[in-house]
Formats: sequence, C-alpha cells, structure tokens
Amino acid sequence: MRVLGIAEEFADDGVRDATIIGAAQRVERYEIAAYGTAVAHAHLLGLDRVVDLLEGTLGEEKAADEKLTEIAESVVNLDAASTDDEESEEGEMVGAASGAKGQASRRSR
Ligand SMILES: [Fe+2]
Repeated sequence: MRVLGIAEEFADDGVRDATIIGAAQRVERYEIAAYGTAVAHAHLLGLDRVVDLLEGTLGEEKAADEKLTEIAESVVNLDAASTDDEESEEGEMVGAASGAKGQASRRSR
C-alpha cells in the first residue's frame, strides 16, 4: 500500500497508521483553509448559492478531520506508542515513531 510515499517506511503497522493519519489530517487542514477562503470570497461577491455549497463542503472537511482525530486518539496513536515502548525495551531504534506519536491528536476547534 502506498499513501503519500510513507507507507513503506515503517516496519510497524501502528507507527505506519499514525503517520498516514497525520498526513491525511494535513490534507484536511489544507482543504479547510482553501474552502474557508473560497466561502469568504463568494460571500463578498454576493454568490449566496455558491456560499451554501462551499459551506457544505467545508463542513464535510471538518467532519473528516474530526473523525481522523477520533480514530487516532482512540486506537492508532495508542498502538503506535505501545510499539515504541516495546521496541525501546528491546533497545531497538524505531523509525519515526516519536515524530508520529500525537501527530493526529491535535484538534482544530
Ligand atoms: Fe478532505
């Protein structure tokens, strides 16, 4: 599986999944910013129907970001963190686990 070129970099599934969610959330935040800007411009131009459509999509992007946060906080980040602990006990280096931990846990409210 290849997602944004990061999936093959991790031998551990938990760390890989946390990294993928972090990357997906960066995409969602970019989309939220873009749709927010488009809504503002459409509003200034008096395009009420366009504003309504863009606000609907903006809401979907925010919902997707929140869902990713829920998945990360409830399961994926915990799996990635426990992998880090297990491998530390073995004295092994873990890919980018410390960078991935908590990456998807920030909320955008
Ligand atoms: Fe999206």
